[in-house]
Amino acid sequence: MSSVKKYTYGEPFFTEAVVKEIERSAGDPAEFIVDKKARTFIYKLDPSTVCYGLGETVRGMNKRGWLYISNNTDEPHHEEGKNSLYASQNFLLIWSKKELFGIFIDYPGRLSFDIGYTETDTLTITFDDLDADVYIIRGESAEDIVKTFRGLIGKSYIPPKWAFGYGQSRWGYKSADDIREVAREYKKAGIPLDMIYLDIDYMEAYKDFTTNKETFPHFKEFVKEMADEGIHLIPIIDAGVKVEKGYEIYEEGIKGDYFCKDELGKPFTAAVWPGAVHFPDFFKEDTRKWFGDKYSKLVEMGIEGFWNDMNEPAIFYSDKGVKEAKKKLAAIPEKELTFENCGAYRDALSTLDDTYRDYHSFYHDVNGKKVRHDKIHNLYGYNMTRSAGEAFQRNYPDKKILMFSRSSYTGMHRYGGVWTGDNASWWSHLALNIAQMPALNMCGFLYCGADLGGFNDNTTEDLMLRWIAFGMFTPLMRNHSALGTRVQELYRFKNKETFANFIKLRHAFIPYIYDEFIKAAENDTMYFRPLSFVYSDDERTFEIEDQLLVGDSIMIAPVYKQNARGRMVYLPEDMKLLRFRGVEDYDVEEMKAGDHYVRAELNEVLVFVRHGRKFEIDDNSHI
Ligand code: GLC
Repeated sequence: MSSVKKYTYGEPFFTEAVVKEIERSAGDPAEFIVDKKARTFIYKLDPSTVCYGLGETVRGMNKRGWLYISNNTDEPHHEEGKNSLYASQNFLLIWSKKELFGIFIDYPGRLSFDIGYTETDTLTITFDDLDADVYIIRGESAEDIVKTFRGLIGKSYIPPKWAFGYGQSRWGYKSADDIREVAREYKKAGIPLDMIYLDIDYMEAYKDFTTNKETFPHFKEFVKEMADEGIHLIPIIDAGVKVEKGYEIYEEGIKGDYFCKDELGKPFTAAVWPGAVHFPDFFKEDTRKWFGDKYSKLVEMGIEGFWNDMNEPAIFYSDKGVKEAKKKLAAIPEKELTFENCGAYRDALSTLDDTYRDYHSFYHDVNGKKVRHDKIHNLYGYNMTRSAGEAFQRNYPDKKILMFSRSSYTGMHRYGGVWTGDNASWWSHLALNIAQMPALNMCGFLYCGADLGGFNDNTTEDLMLRWIAFGMFTPLMRNHSALGTRVQELYRFKNKETFANFIKLRHAFIPYIYDEFIKAAENDTMYFRPLSFVYSDDERTFEIEDQLLVGDSIMIAPVYKQNARGRMVYLPEDMKLLRFRGVEDYDVEEMKAGDHYVRAELNEVLVFVRHGRKFEIDDNSHI
């Protein structure tokens, strides 16, 4: 039997993460020592306690041993020393030999989870303000708890089926001809391609909902030309609206009073890609409607999918920050360079993008009430994506539109998926990708994936092969990289044939992947599960963070180390190993439960089929 208890503290902001009415329980949750003055919830961790959850964060699946801070951040360095990434999912599953329960903290401000970091046996949750709804979820199993939690937060977003294809992206495609070249080269190499993503350069001067007339002329015809090639174009939309007289979106935003305000009640100005921007106040229903309807400009030109970016919101610097920096610079005495002066110069400029200062300087209008941004910061990206999702439902009720976002909070999973932002072309980030997926699934984000091959830094062919061999199972399968890094379209590499085989395999797997995805979305279950969720009687499985169950029938054990020609794999039960080199080229091997060193060459994809289950592929599958 599962149960949910809700405890309310202070005056919680109505985040709309939870869609179910739950009666409020009196007192504090018995599981925690609650110190209202210190704004902390404390829980003693048993040596056997494992903590799962928190969605997209750094480190492994078991979150124990680090400090995680829910504070959506444009963080391009996903190193293990970081505390916050772009998203906040305040759901934690606490699981020991003694007890098992889930906690969801519905609070959109800054919240920290010290999970055995300060003291190895203590979990301390600290709120900036104790204005929150806290849900304690109990159930018979981890899966049961996740299902109950998901029941609370509503059904996950389902993208169109074609969005399970393979997509190529790169920041740096400057023109329609660049895009045509990508399509042509993929075709020439015999590697299937279903989507090409348009990064900020398709716009005119990075202005949302515009298309560059010189570099992308006749946009509508171009979209059709690509569609005829079987390629969907997926443009990016950024949160900031360029401040520019005469630009329709800016003018309408001012006229309609749709932007966030500064202390003086003027539209708040910050700099992002377009230069000076204003941020739409997505907490206002009329702003959401106005901005959401703008996506139609592109939908009417044949576009069927979008990615929402820079929506933490990312701020490179603000008016206020520049003024402060200038003041600091002016205060440095004009004399020869000393060590102190050097530090002062550096300090003046390094605080330009101090988002804390900026998040304290602008305001939202929430049903007529002025709310300072930092209080509800983690909801901004969610509401941007919601504005699009609501508009799609309103304007195209019979159409499925692809939507995923960089920033998120629980609840956004009803409107779109996520990608995990600016990772790097590092082997450790392939491992991170594996760990992040089930954590996101727990929180309702089923359509998700990372930038395959890595966004920052230079990739290598073997990393790309291994990453594609894993990414072939992620619902969002997109190769994306940053401006200035080594090009990584699959046709750039020597091993074109292997890449072609891999993408064809992905296509052949789609019937399975799609069915399992839909099942997870409909039943509030997970598409990617840690092994412990299924084999909880087997203690070993709690320590396995580099193998995943994908749907109900299969397990994967991706290779994520350079120069490895195989890896150790733990089989909690007898399984059948399918070793794919191509859709029609595979071997089958029966394997016994236990530890195995399993060979996996660079041109192979390994699928472990669970005992008594079926994994059927469709060699004629196309989307
Ligand atoms: C951000 C995004 C990245 C994109 C870039 C340019 O860094 O995370 O995916 O390519 O902006 O738009």
